[in-house]
Amino acid sequence: MSAIIEFSQVTKSFQSKGAPITALDGIDLSIEAGEIFGIIGYSGAGKSTLVRLINGLETATSGRIVVDGVEITALKERDLPPVRSRIGMIFQQFNLLRSRTIAGNVEFPLKVAGWPKAKRRERVAELLDFVGLLSRAYDHPEQLSGGQKQRVGIARALAVSPSVLLADEATSALDPETTQDVLELLKRTNREFGVTIVVITHEMDVIRSIADRVAVLDHGRLVETGTTFDVFAEPKADATKKFLKTVMRNRPDAATLAQLQREHPGRLVTAQVRDVAAFGDALEAANERGARGRIVFGGFERLQGQELGSVTLSFSGEDAAVQDAIDRLGAAARLEEVHA
Ligand SMILES: Nc1ncnc2c1ncn2[C@@H]1O[C@H](COP(=O)(O)OP(=O)(O)OP(=O)(O)O)[C@@H](O)[C@H]1O
Ligand SMILES: [Mg+2]
Repeated sequence: MSAIIEFSQVTKSFQSKGAPITALDGIDLSIEAGEIFGIIGYSGAGKSTLVRLINGLETATSGRIVVDGVEITALKERDLPPVRSRIGMIFQQFNLLRSRTIAGNVEFPLKVAGWPKAKRRERVAELLDFVGLLSRAYDHPEQLSGGQKQRVGIARALAVSPSVLLADEATSALDPETTQDVLELLKRTNREFGVTIVVITHEMDVIRSIADRVAVLDHGRLVETGTTFDVFAEPKADATKKFLKTVMRNRPDAATLAQLQREHPGRLVTAQVRDVAAFGDALEAANERGARGRIVFGGFERLQGQELGSVTLSFSGEDAAVQDAIDRLGAAARLEEVHA
């Protein structure tokens, strides 16, 4: 794998009336060709600024940015258009031209690129077929639902076969089910055309559904980068932990823990599980040796084809047997004993 987007020590400040605003601070980032890379952050973290640096809509204050082999931080404005044409973009509000038909919207970038009419028609049909909207070619944007509009946005962005597709909050205006449909289409786009996709979002569920790797942006700094699985399994930065709280329903909150303690007077432990088989074996062995260990909260999920779990267990039985059980489980998962 090789990097298709590379940031080295990139900083972006905006001059305002008062003190300058540092939107991005010392960003080092490497996005591999062919991956789906997620960038998550709260409002104002600098996500859109980062995206606009990739396609040259903003210029970096300092640092170096290389996109698809071109050092864009070394280019003059007039040399940027050929680079931009290698980068597609989709938006939260879709940004379709209301006066044009669906086909006309998808055709637009091809016209700009100077494609002859017959080839344009052929390409538009192919793209609309790919996004499942061939039958709506002569409708206007206002006749489509949000999800359908975003499909048109994707077809338009893919028209000139970009090597990179940037999606800035592309599903934030959609309901959860439509969001999943659009994310599925993006995955198919990635698989079938090998397009590198950069997904900007403030929703951890979007990251979980689509991203191979993720970077967490907090107040203009990248505070964590890793595979989606690793970041979900072992978040390190506080901002990441905060994001994960919104989607990890297998971890009991304080009130639930207090209730579990009342209901289960023996020892209570929570386990973060990455190896489900080893964990199952350890629990079985513990139970055979006389400790009664039962899962009282939590469960497992699949992420990027791997199991990941968080479970709370209550133990009863002989003290020594319970201690042995907790030791065994501790070797197979990350345990934390819950105290009263
Ligand atoms: N053109 C500009 N002029 C001045 N300040 C700007 C400009 N663009 C962005 N900023 C500032 O830079 C910071 C980052 O903004 P940015 O739009 O990149 O955040 P974001 O993570 O995309 O937020 P959101 O989730 O709300 O879209 C903010 O403090 C913002 O006010
Ligand atoms: Mg933004």
